[in-house]
Amino acid sequence: MKKILMVDACVREESRTRGLAEYLMSKLEGEKEVIRLIDEPLKPIDGKYVNHRVELINGRAFDHEMFRWAKQFAAADEIVVAAPYWDMSFPSILKVYIEHIEAMDITFGYSDEGVPTGLCRAKKLYYVSTSGGPIYDGNLGFRYVTRLCEDFWGIPETKLFQAELLDVVGKDIPGILEKARKEMDEYFG
Ligand SMILES: Cc1cc2nc3c(=O)[nH]c(=O)nc-3n(C[C@H](O)[C@H](O)[C@H](O)COP(=O)(O)O)c2cc1C
Repeated sequence: MKKILMVDACVREESRTRGLAEYLMSKLEGEKEVIRLIDEPLKPIDGKYVNHRVELINGRAFDHEMFRWAKQFAAADEIVVAAPYWDMSFPSILKVYIEHIEAMDITFGYSDEGVPTGLCRAKKLYYVSTSGGPIYDGNLGFRYVTRLCEDFWGIPETKLFQAELLDVVGKDIPGILEKARKEMDEYFG
């Protein structure tokens, strides 16, 4: 059975992004797992952590608990990232998570020529986002995660679903969210 991992980088309890991502999850079939990042003991990595990680990787000590997030991410067949548009990208907890899963020889490796090669199993990553205002020049959070998929993780396909203008007074918020759900209905057929 396919393993589907939802990486929930939403921060607010009543998050609309999470609501849309859960709707998307309901369209996918497989063994589902959700990791809610704000409930995880994730801290920005520091120099001591980096050196420790290098020692562990050099010693092939991949059973260390610091690698649990990276192993979970690498093993998923499909990934759903839920991240509201914050400060033109996403909440910092997602960046901290990325620092932790960016573990050499688990999610990516290097070829003899020094080129990163992806080690993740997933063939597809869905990215769900909502924003308060308009997103003018592409969702930078999605673009960044897509580059990581392409350049590091070896995940060939990414797909964005987003709902904009949710904090603009007078907008039909339920209607905007419904439109995003309809887009998912159409996409999944
Ligand atoms: C810290 C913070 C930063 C935000 N930055 C942006 C932004 O750069 N652009 C934007 O359009 N909306 C921004 N917003 C508004 C959110 O994107 C919007 O309210 C979104 O729908 C929140 O998602 P949620 O309902 O899942 O929490 C920001 C909100 C917060 C709290």
